[in-house]
Amino acid sequence: MKTGIFYGSSLGNTQFVADKIQHQIPGSDCISVTYLTAEKILSYDLLILGTSTWGVGNLQDDFELFVDLLLTLDLSDKTIALFGCGDQHTYPDTFCNGMGKLHQLLSEKETNIIGPWSIEGYDFSESEAVIDDHFVGLALDEDNEPDLTDGRVTQWTKIIREALQVI
Ligand SMILES: Cc1cc2nc3c(=O)[nH]c(=O)nc-3n(C[C@H](O)[C@H](O)[C@H](O)COP(=O)(O)O)c2cc1C
Repeated sequence: MKTGIFYGSSLGNTQFVADKIQHQIPGSDCISVTYLTAEKILSYDLLILGTSTWGVGNLQDDFELFVDLLLTLDLSDKTIALFGCGDQHTYPDTFCNGMGKLHQLLSEKETNIIGPWSIEGYDFSESEAVIDDHFVGLALDEDNEPDLTDGRVTQWTKIIREALQVI
């Protein structure tokens, strides 16, 4: 299963995490969304999409442009997993909302989204990235809990691998 990890990152946190995810998935490619074309995106089977959250609950700038392209594509034969970076202490009402917005947009298309993640162990009030007590993908907080990132990435990629049984 050809796997592409596509990230949008303003200060490098989401890129840092994307690299960690890549190390857990042998043979995967890790690419900034600024370098992607429709042809390139469609050449992958599993798309692992990562955005940080900016403004008050918005997608990261590069990711916003990428989403415009992504939504024009037929993704019905793709498997998609999401991850996001946010800051739960400074933005407790919009924690990782970017990932939530991405999930909402993709849900309006025919897509197969895997990899929900428990909200246990986080400290925030509200997030558009939460459905039924689970984040819609892996939520990370490099600002406050960088020491938890490695463990979370290892556990989540294991869940993804087990769900697919192929990568
Ligand atoms: C101006 C500004 C606005 C932010 N808004 C949010 C927000 O609404 N929700 C959130 O969870 N994090 C927010 N953050 C935190 C970033 O998402 C976080 O620092 C993230 O790790 C940045 O990742 P990046 O370097 O990959 O872009 C904000 C940070 C800044 C500086």
